[in-house]
Amino acid sequence: MNKTFYITTPIYYPSANFHIGHCYCTIAADAIARYKRLDGFETYFLTGSDEHGQKIENKANEAGVSPKEYVDKIIEDAKDLWSSLNITYDRFIRTTDQDHVKTVQKIFKKLYDNGDIYKGEYKGLYCTPCESFWTATQSPDGLCPDCGRPINEVSEEAYFFKLSKYQSRLEEYIENHPDFIEPVSRKNEMINNFLKPGLEDLCVSRTSFSWGIPVDFDNNHVVYVWLDALSNYITALGYETSNDENFQKFWPADVQLVGKEIIRFHTIIWPIILMALNLPLPKKVFGHGWLVINGEKISKSLGNYKDPREYIKDYGQDAVRYFCLREIPFGSDGNFSEEALIGRINSDLANIWGNLVSRTIGMINKYFDGEIQNKKCFEKIDIPFIENLKKLKKDADAKIDELQISKLLETIFDTLRASNKYIDDTTPWTLAKDDQKRDRLETVLYNLLESIRITAILLKPFMPTSAEKVLKNICTTKNEFKDLFYLENLQYKVTNNPEPLFERIQKD
Ligand code: MSP
Repeated sequence: MNKTFYITTPIYYPSANFHIGHCYCTIAADAIARYKRLDGFETYFLTGSDEHGQKIENKANEAGVSPKEYVDKIIEDAKDLWSSLNITYDRFIRTTDQDHVKTVQKIFKKLYDNGDIYKGEYKGLYCTPCESFWTATQSPDGLCPDCGRPINEVSEEAYFFKLSKYQSRLEEYIENHPDFIEPVSRKNEMINNFLKPGLEDLCVSRTSFSWGIPVDFDNNHVVYVWLDALSNYITALGYETSNDENFQKFWPADVQLVGKEIIRFHTIIWPIILMALNLPLPKKVFGHGWLVINGEKISKSLGNYKDPREYIKDYGQDAVRYFCLREIPFGSDGNFSEEALIGRINSDLANIWGNLVSRTIGMINKYFDGEIQNKKCFEKIDIPFIENLKKLKKDADAKIDELQISKLLETIFDTLRASNKYIDDTTPWTLAKDDQKRDRLETVLYNLLESIRITAILLKPFMPTSAEKVLKNICTTKNEFKDLFYLENLQYKVTNNPEPLFERIQKD
């Protein structure tokens, strides 16, 4: 059987156009999905939109259109954004998709028939913008603990899901599966702040608004958003349909990426839904940090951001991808600023990567008319250089599995930096002056091309367009993950006038 890999992002609310914060998680998922795909895994990458709920209904009313018309426009824009970032999802699920709607109704009924959902009376505090219920203990000041806005007391007939019934099973599961919630700090937070105080049953239907999936056996009710939203990860694969091949193949998910503010939904409610459905739990839920601007979370409600396409237009798709993946250790918060973005472009992409490629290709053209092979005239300095190239793939595999994307890029850029240093140490321009040193010169340039080839293959998942450009410039057909070794006997013929990979950007 093929190795498979299933990765998901949260499905985002289309209450406004998506911003760089949404790009952040989607770029990370795309890079991981691409890595696994190139590494021979049959991969499924799911993203999408969470379209129901009162907030969207209100927004559509304000705009004077139907909720569906309102979200259609935003989704069109989102898909354009994903294509401008070269995002390779396998499915963009919308919670208004008919297959999703039908399966959510089936799930609701199944949970009801099994006695895990029951009808009751909801009294509580509700934050409309965040679509979150809070208890009085969680909100002693009457303000939403997430966004700080006032929350209202509401009371209505509602269905509830018996989270409490599964509490100890979940505690045991988390205890026995140390990789299930990452990073570890988030795991401890879930145990101490949510599980230890005891779980309250969860409201899973509403009667006070109508923009939602109808509960098909009780038409006054629509499914309340989190049950609807979380189910997307299995409805997208055809769970409970006659076409469930993907579900059989890909569930349980290997990695579910979520922002730290929704990790509690994904590590408490979601696993309990799965337990109640008798399904295996995802192997890993990873809570990543936030992009912040001047210390504040980039968010739709604060409106503190530009259209991400402006950054792409000004700095390029791969530079934006690289910045998001490299600047902030995955799991921590980090500042997003154009200044830092320019800094990364100049220091890493132009000075280190671009420079290495153009210097090396320039010398091969100058000294060998663009064509070289390995003359194997090695010296001591080559040993650590080649040894490092040989172990790069293994290092990268380990870092991808730990979701240490920033560290992985750091490792690759360390290799590129070391390659620039190798040029400075071996001084090919001096070797070129001595006819006796032709073979040595050719070997040095060969080693450099091997470094450029191997790093470019490894950079494909992260900066696909630029990596392909480099591989094209060095005209190699050994450009796949299976070619990630130091190869001894390639015949290289490089382009004679490559355009620069990245231009340095002047700060004004
Ligand atoms: N619809 C829910 C998720 C349901 S999943 C079953 C939701 N949507 S959202 O539009 O608010 O998107 C939240 C996600 O977007 C975060 O968890 C995170 O992955 C990403 N981000 C939104 N703003 C972000 C930042 N400022 N920084 C990093 N990621 C951010 O919650």
